[in-house]
Amino acid sequence: MIMYKYVVTGLVLTGLAMASLQAAETIKSLRDKPLASESDKPVMYRWQRDREPIPRDYVQQPPLIPHKIIGYKIDINSNKCLTCHSWSNYKKAGATKISLTHFTDREGNDLANVSARRYFCDQCHVPQVDAQPLVENTFEPVGAVKQQR
Ligand code: HEC
Ligand code: HEC
Repeated sequence: MIMYKYVVTGLVLTGLAMASLQAAETIKSLRDKPLASESDKPVMYRWQRDREPIPRDYVQQPPLIPHKIIGYKIDINSNKCLTCHSWSNYKKAGATKISLTHFTDREGNDLANVSARRYFCDQCHVPQVDAQPLVENTFEPVGAVKQQR
């Protein structure tokens, strides 16, 4: 019985020592900044105001969403985006219609309706907030889409 007690105490002590060793190490991100601790408050960003379409950076880019999408539901019963961006509604809404590529399935078959792999719009298209880039970025758009100044 006494032996057992020593073994348990030993295990608990080793455990504690290991835990404090781990805590002493500061974890760093690849950007060489310490990771936010759990006690840090989450930063709340503000959605950008609705605006004109945002220039693209490369030809195959899913265009960024130049408007807020708060409350725009996409589920099995309805897709709010398509109430403005579908071919039957885009004119009335004054929105861009989804392109032909959104009607092709992964085998390359052309469908009469939006392909399942293009149904969840915000998998690829993202709205914008007022966040500043985390690291410096010197990316230049390719010539084909570079806006003339
Ligand atoms: C109430 C109508 C409406 C709804 C709903 C809507 N949009 Fe839009 N969207 C617009 C309008 C209007 C524009 C701007 C068109 C213009 O100025 O040429 C636009 C622009 C865009 C663009 C930019 C297109 C480009 O060529 O750069 C994308 C991408 C987009 N919306 C995606 C979405 C997604 C994804 C959803 C759903 C989460 C959505 N929209 C819901 C009306 C809407
Ligand atoms: C798997 C990624 C993906 C999904 C999901 C997706 N898109 Fe796109 N979308 C793209 C890409 C890439 C482009 C640009 C090239 C092209 O037209 O295919 C694009 C282009 C667009 C454009 C601009 C068309 C044009 O003629 O310039 C609109 C508007 C758009 N998408 C709306 C939507 C809406 C609304 C949905 C949901 C019903 C959606 N997209 C789902 C990837 C996606």
